[in-house]
Order: sequence, then structure tokens, then C-alpha cells
Amino acid sequence: MESSKKQQEDTQQFTSNLITQIQEESKGGDNLEQTDPVSFLERELQIKIDADSKEELRLSVANENSYKEKVKKLLETLREKHTGNYKVLKKIDNLYPLYDAHDFWDSQPVPKAYDVFDNSLIDKPIDKIKTVAEVRQDPYPLPAGFVWADIDISNREQAQEVYELLTQNYVEDDDNMFRFDYSIDFLQWALTVPGFHKEWLFGVRGGKKNRLFGFISGIPVDCVVRGNKIKMAEINFLCVHKSLRTKRLATVLIKEVTRRVNLHDIWQAVYTAGVLIPLPIAKTTYWHRSLNPKKLVEVGFSSLPSGTPMARYVKILKLPTETSIPGLREMTKKDISVVCELLNTYLTRFEVHLEFSNSEVEHFLIPRPGVIDTYVVENPETKQVTDFFSFYHLPSSILKHETHKILNVAYAYYNVCNTVSFEELMRNALIIAKQKNFDVFNALDIMENEKILKELKFGVGDGNLHYYLYNWRIPELKSPQLGIVLV
Ligand SMILES: CC(C)(COP(=O)(O)OP(=O)(O)OC[C@H]1O[C@@H](n2cnc3c(N)ncnc32)[C@H](O)[C@@H]1OP(=O)(O)O)[C@@H](O)C(=O)NCCC(=O)NCCS
Repeated sequence: MESSKKQQEDTQQFTSNLITQIQEESKGGDNLEQTDPVSFLERELQIKIDADSKEELRLSVANENSYKEKVKKLLETLREKHTGNYKVLKKIDNLYPLYDAHDFWDSQPVPKAYDVFDNSLIDKPIDKIKTVAEVRQDPYPLPAGFVWADIDISNREQAQEVYELLTQNYVEDDDNMFRFDYSIDFLQWALTVPGFHKEWLFGVRGGKKNRLFGFISGIPVDCVVRGNKIKMAEINFLCVHKSLRTKRLATVLIKEVTRRVNLHDIWQAVYTAGVLIPLPIAKTTYWHRSLNPKKLVEVGFSSLPSGTPMARYVKILKLPTETSIPGLREMTKKDISVVCELLNTYLTRFEVHLEFSNSEVEHFLIPRPGVIDTYVVENPETKQVTDFFSFYHLPSSILKHETHKILNVAYAYYNVCNTVSFEELMRNALIIAKQKNFDVFNALDIMENEKILKELKFGVGDGNLHYYLYNWRIPELKSPQLGIVLV
């Protein structure tokens, strides 16, 4: 959702430094236990604490056993001291989960905000190296009445079951106004990728009707992290039915998918989540470009800027009706190898990115109605394909409006420019999205997107997406260092 002015300021000013400690470690060998938690929080929360208060705060946590406990207790104290200060409270809320207890994640090979380690541990797995023979052979036990079920997502009936679970129970915005509505065609596209493993797409069934109550998926990807090419699982679509929430079923799904991935001798994973858990490699922000401002205001997705009449607002956001780039056309199969080359070359600029094979480019980028659009720029004279843009189709159900039930949303996917400016390329993507009746075009502030968001009249959203790596430690990254989009 487009965020209010206050939230925008907050997002812009939020200089999250979730792994400050890791970076400090990597620079100087300073170690966390030697860091003063009060000074750390003063810096992190961007507050000024006078010398006397600092001393008082230090004394108040002197008896805590660990650095983690000290920071946690200090955050609680500072939360009370700053009641009413929205910005500081928000920063505290953004930090607290990383110092709080996580019964599940604390036991997993993921970095912790309070870890103490030296440089030699960076760019390496966190867990000790294991072999497939050491992997648990049996699935994790489930509560009585529930069973594991592989899902054949190519099968229409089973895909329909996943579709229903997700449309009714998957991700909602903070105000519960919108919920993702991934289509069946989309799910089949996202999950039956080249070389997919059918046992990485599974759920939990139960009850008299053997209904699907939970789901999780993994697909194999070649991921390059700071120059290290690693076969990973990309984990997505974790969902537990609303009636079974907070019963730790999600943790069993995660453990089980990890086991199934490990059985393929794969030990790392990449995943994203709105929630803050130990420990993101980067925090990214959604931006939104209104294409149908009137509807977006009506459904509460955007609010009309104060003092601006609707007609003027619509005019400000009006786009040209026709594209401007000569030779712009839909991608076809004959473009696969050149697009693959353009994409892989471009992605090497980023610290974390995927490496695509021709068959993956064919799968992910050849246009599919209602799922993915890709347009290439073909030089009218040389017939050379030089640039392309792509966006995927992910509508949301509108949960609280009388007449509008679906929000048509396009999401920026992979975009590469060589002969046109990035701004012109993306303006053309917006024009096509508008022609195709999308209400809004979303983009994360990853890759080079940041450079064009303001010029193209995107507004910052209130949604954050955290990127995570499982069992691999790197220093914290900024959004523009990420070259990977999870759908
Ligand atoms: C995400 C979801 C599956 C979690 O299920 P739940 O019933 O709320 O949580 P459970 O009791 O089963 O498990 C709680 C544990 O899962 C972790 N968890 C919650 N959401 C998570 C996520 N998106 N990714 C990874 N772990 C997550 C919690 O941090 C907690 O672990 P901790 O104690 O170590 O902190 C459920 O809330 C859901 O389906 N939400 C809607 C869809 C969604 O948001 N999916 C995730 C998309 S990224």
C-alpha cells in the first residue's frame, strides 16, 4: 500500500543497519562483546543520550548475562522513555525482533544480530559441512491427524487446492485490506521450473476431507553470492491455514523442506519475508506507480494528496498512450539466447544474483498471458536485440470494498537497458502495463530501480521485504546490491 507522508519519511530516513556488527567485524576485528550496547543503540536509533543517562542505562543492564540480553532490556527501557516518539518507536520495533528469543530460528544456521565472529567466517556456510548420508531419512513427524502430501502442481485439481489455500490464507498487508491472489497459471509457472524437484513442492493435509492446511515450495537455482556460485533452493509460498496459526506448523514445514533440499546435497537457500527474523541480508522497500489512481484511492490503496482534486491527481499521473522506443516488441523464442546473455551479463553487477540458463530464460521470460510479460528492444536496422523489460502479474484480492474485488498489479521483474535510458525503458513498461489494464505497477528498490522511481512518479510504500540466506554468512547489503527477484 502507498504509505502516508509520515511513513515515507520514516522509510527514507530508516538507515537500517541490521548487521552493523558483522561489518564492524569485517573491518576491524572489533568484537561485539567489547561494544558498548548503549552507544550501539544511540547510533542505531539515531537518538542523543546524555552522559548521565548513559551511565544509568549501562548500570541497569550490568547484570544481564549476555550482550543480546543487555540490548533487549535496553530496547525495552528506551521504548518506555520514548512513548509518543513515533520515529524512535518504529526503529525500536525494527530492531527488537533481532534481540528477542526465536525458539525456532535461534536453532537454525542463520546469522544472529548478536553473533560474535571474525572475518574468516564470512562468505562461508554457518553449519558444519555435512554429507547426504547424515541427513535424516524420514520426514519430520506431524501432529496426529495430519500427513505430508507432495503436490503435483501441474495437476489442475491439486493446483486449485494450493490456489484456494493461498487466496484465502496467504500474505496480507498490515491493515488486512489486500491479500495476494496468485493465479493457478502463475503458480505453475513459478514452481515447475527447469529441473524442479517434485518433492520440494508439498504441504500438510488433514481432517475428514483430507484438506490442504499448509504449503511450502522450493525450486533449484544457481545463485551467485559475492562471487561464490552456489546451488541453492529458492523457498517460497510458505503458508499455514488461518485456523492452524501459531501452532509451530510453519517451523515443521521449514525443517521438512530443508531436509528434502539437503537430500539433494544442497545446503543453502534464499528466501524473502515481510517479517523480520534472524537475520536479513538486506531490507528492501516496495514502491508503487499508480496507473489507475481513481480506483486506488477508492479502495484505500492510495490517498489523495491533501489539497489535490482527483482530476488534477489523475492528470499528474497520466502516461503517454503509446510506447516511445522504436523496435519494442514482445519477446519470442528466437530471443532466448541473446536475452539470456544480456541478463546474465547485467546481473554480474550485483552482490547477490541468479545465473540463468537458456532453458530458465525460456521458462521465466517468454510471455505467458496473465503471468509474465517481456518486451525486447530490437534495433529496426540491425535486428539486434539490445534491451528488455519484464513484469509479472500478481493481483490482490480487495478484502473490504463493496464493488472493487481485485487489484490488478504488475511487478517489475528483470530489466536491462543498453541502448535506451533506464528511465525510458521503464516508462515504456508502465505504458504497456497501463494498456493492459493494470491498476498499479510495483517495484522494489533493488538493482538499479532506485534511479528511476522518483522520476517515473512511483510513491514509496509501507511494505518492506527482507531478503535472507540460509546457512551462508555475508555482511549486510543495501537494496541496490541485490540482483534477484523472488515472485
Ligand atoms: C507465515 C506463516 C506460515 C507462519 O505461521 P504461524 O502459524 O504464524 O507460525 P508458527 O507458530 O507455525 O511458527 C512460528 C515461527 O515461524 C517463524 N516465521 C513466521 N513467519 C515466517 C516467515 N515468513 N518465514 C520464516 N519464518 C517465519 C516465526 O518467526 C516463528 O519462529 P521463531 O519462534 O523462531 O521466531 C503464517 O503466518 C502464514 O501463512 N501467513 C500468511 C502467509 C505468509 O505470510 N507467508 C510467508 C510469506 S514470506
